[in-house]
Amino acid sequence: MTNLAVFASGSGSNFEAIARSCADGRLDARVVVCVCDRPGAGVVERARRLGVPVLEFRPRDYAGKRDFERMIADRLDEEGVELVCLAGYMRIVGEELLGRYGGRILNIHPALLPAFPGAHAIRDAFEYGVKVYGVTIHYIDETIDGGTIVSQAAVPYDGDDIDEVEAMIHQAEHRLYVDTISRIINSKEGKQE
Ligand code: GAR
Repeated sequence: MTNLAVFASGSGSNFEAIARSCADGRLDARVVVCVCDRPGAGVVERARRLGVPVLEFRPRDYAGKRDFERMIADRLDEEGVELVCLAGYMRIVGEELLGRYGGRILNIHPALLPAFPGAHAIRDAFEYGVKVYGVTIHYIDETIDGGTIVSQAAVPYDGDDIDEVEAMIHQAEHRLYVDTISRIINSKEGKQE
């Protein structure tokens, strides 16, 4: 059984896909903590409903990133976290967390990296007029949306409804994140080579 931490800032649909897969046995893992930097975000309610402990914090209550990342990393240590899954955590991970959990932090991005990095990938791809959208899971490093790619899924779409393609991408995300975590856990490659 692998101990996971999931970090999210928003609605938390990816968090929920992961937590439900743990609960129903699809993943041989448990989410020991949900870390949220926006108290009141949708993910907090989802976590409470699913019985997952939440670590909520306000970055502005800390002197700087190093301080709140130290608080988070201490909690991850206490919980015995083996793999961190960023799931819409809209913050650049800093030196403290990378120093202590580097090589064990996955991120999901709603585009086929290296295309469309950043916080508005779906809108950017839509406005560019792509016909194949997608999802990327990668280990993070100190660059924005950089790091070794672990898996990708393509989402072909030739329509003109951004809400429709967004829903398709989210569905693909939930599937790909659970499958990728499962692969990592089962091959015991929880730490990047
Ligand atoms: C997801 O689409 C995720 O890929 C994206 O935030 C969304 C969170 O949705 N992350 C990024 O854009 C990171 N650059 P959710 O809260 O419903 O899981």
